[in-house]
Amino acid sequence: MDEHHEPWPRHVAVIMDGNGRWARRRHLPRIEGHRAGVKSARAAMEVCRDLGVPVLTLYTFSLENWRRPQAEVDELMRLLHRYLAREAPRLAANRVRFRALGRLGMLPAKVRAKVEELTAATAGNDRLTLCLALSYGGRAEIVDAINAAAAARVAAGREPGPLAPADIAAHLYAPDVPPPDLIIRTSGEVRLSNFLLWESVGARLVFVPELWPDFNAKRLAALVSAERARHAAQVAR
Ligand code: IPE
Ligand code: IPE
Ligand code: MG
Repeated sequence: MDEHHEPWPRHVAVIMDGNGRWARRRHLPRIEGHRAGVKSARAAMEVCRDLGVPVLTLYTFSLENWRRPQAEVDELMRLLHRYLAREAPRLAANRVRFRALGRLGMLPAKVRAKVEELTAATAGNDRLTLCLALSYGGRAEIVDAINAAAAARVAAGREPGPLAPADIAAHLYAPDVPPPDLIIRTSGEVRLSNFLLWESVGARLVFVPELWPDFNAKRLAALVSAERARHAAQVAR
């Protein structure tokens, strides 16, 4: 890679969609699709590590997803808890720093405790930052950032407004993380579904037909490499 250029993408964000359809096609319960999706998530983590992508964000559970049938929400929370409880050794071995973005206060206390544990346990890792968007909504993030920015001003003895974009950017859920350069959505749906609305301003958007459990390491690596080459050619022009 040309050393004069910034590495690209600095941040890949994925809308992991299609688990339910993957399960339905196999006449399996939806949760089996989510289980298979965890394998794709691990593969994505390893691909980003191998390709030198510094940040990977996975859209794991949206604020809208709280409105799914209670049984599915419960199963997703159980699966999430198990992932968080078991993933520490793998993250340590891969030098992955774990972060969670979203209204984490809405998560079951057990899940939130695991989120906090894993965040603290991996804080010193430096190879890849893995962000899970959990109980996440883009509009809610912007609202939360505006309220936090105004509250910080008041705490500093100043007027709460007017606010500038930089004030809001400084109070997002992960203000130190660069915005995504590449956003990928699987399953053929062409929408953002309330994902990273503030941060996606300059992102390249790629929509692929594969269902998330079918989107394997090879496919993601090929996609990121192709996008990287396209970006390099564009910068060279
Ligand atoms: C994405 O798969 C995973 C979550 C939103 C938790 P879906 O569950 O949305 O799968 P489809 O879209 O119904 O196939
Ligand atoms: C987006 O997928 C949310 C996640 C991948 C976590 P959804 O399947 O929930 O989104 P919609 O309902 O199709 O917009
Ligand atoms: Mg879906």
